[in-house]
Amino acid sequence: TVPMDSPVVPMMMYRPNPMYTDGEEHDRYRGAVSDTLNRLNPHALRTYVEESADLLIDLFGPEGEAELLSEYCARLPLLVFNQLFGCPPELSETMVKGMAALLDASEDAVEANAVLIETLLALIALKRLEPGADITSWLLAHPARLNDEELVSQLILLLGAGVEPVQNLICNALRLLLSDERFAGDLSGGTMPVDEALDEALWTDPPIANYATHFPVRDVTIAGHRVGKGTPLLISMGAANNDPQLVSDRRGNRAHLAFGAGPHACPAKDPARIIASTAVEKLLDRVPDIELAVDPAQLHWRPGPFHRALAALPVHFPPVAAKYDQAGATATDQTTGGNAWTPSPAPSSSTPKGATSTGREPGSGNGAQRPWWNSLITWWRGR
Ligand code: HEM
Repeated sequence: TVPMDSPVVPMMMYRPNPMYTDGEEHDRYRGAVSDTLNRLNPHALRTYVEESADLLIDLFGPEGEAELLSEYCARLPLLVFNQLFGCPPELSETMVKGMAALLDASEDAVEANAVLIETLLALIALKRLEPGADITSWLLAHPARLNDEELVSQLILLLGAGVEPVQNLICNALRLLLSDERFAGDLSGGTMPVDEALDEALWTDPPIANYATHFPVRDVTIAGHRVGKGTPLLISMGAANNDPQLVSDRRGNRAHLAFGAGPHACPAKDPARIIASTAVEKLLDRVPDIELAVDPAQLHWRPGPFHRALAALPVHFPPVAAKYDQAGATATDQTTGGNAWTPSPAPSSSTPKGATSTGREPGSGNGAQRPWWNSLITWWRGR
């Protein structure tokens, strides 16, 4: 009954993926997605994040100032997913640009969506011929036998469900670390309570504040409220987490609802935390004297029904030298094994061995990666 051009439709409409299905259909999609995510190697993931972080810090570090939301938090997950998907250099730029346009909901989002689908189909075709140790190949090889349309849907879900919340978590945690005395004090004392800042952000400012779309299949009564069949329902993780009746001391307590609960709970809690904590640690490590460029009271939250996201996070700091030169070489060369993708030692029992038995992707070594990194640098510099 809602017009198709309603701005909430893309986030709340049916798609053939785990988020919008239940029962057997959900089990099939969820199995493919979580088996695939379980194969991610935490060490390789950390390396991807560190390399992506270095690239981005190189772009703004020498300037002595940055707007961290757009120049760091939003770009980093895109780079990481690009690597996790096993994107070869010739597809990477289109994919990152397409994803960025979709997530920005920019004017060319419809066109970007078409380009992204085309790029993902090309990626799937490529991985069918040359499987690698990456998310795309693992999904392809999964016994759920997803067809191309379903494969594209799962890849887009992983991007949509992964990129924006991770971006918001990094940004919201950095806001706390840079503005809240409790964390700032520890920072200058040498201990960086990054994990605690992440936990606090997940409690007080959950990156997805309202979501978990449900459409009841019959009339129901919830906490005394009658909800008619088919009425769209959102769950407010933000409200639940900040219920004043909850105990106040949350140190070490991760019983929040930021990752949802039940059969649809986020299957990517661990990788999400690895990406966010590594991104925050890397930034504070390379730019230790970073400070907010405005009074914390001047930071604004971006309006929107679903997310808890800052509109901007401006900072300044004593300029830091770039680590990579224009050609992609580093002063302290880290290239050996830096991009290595080591398949999980305990692959999913339900997934054929073929896809994981391939080691490093042809063209996934640093040497091959530099050209697309460089073209992205040029693109981002021109934006
Ligand atoms: C801080 C980062 C993240 C937060 C706060 C978060 C939060 C959530 C929440 C609240 C849900 C439940 C939605 C519902 O009940 O309908 C969810 C589901 C999901 N998330 Fe995450 N997520 C994060 C990162 C990621 C990442 C990095 C990925 C993928 C790599 C991912 C993949 C998914 C998928 C596939 C689902 C659907 C599961 C299902 O319906 O069975 N998430 N996430």
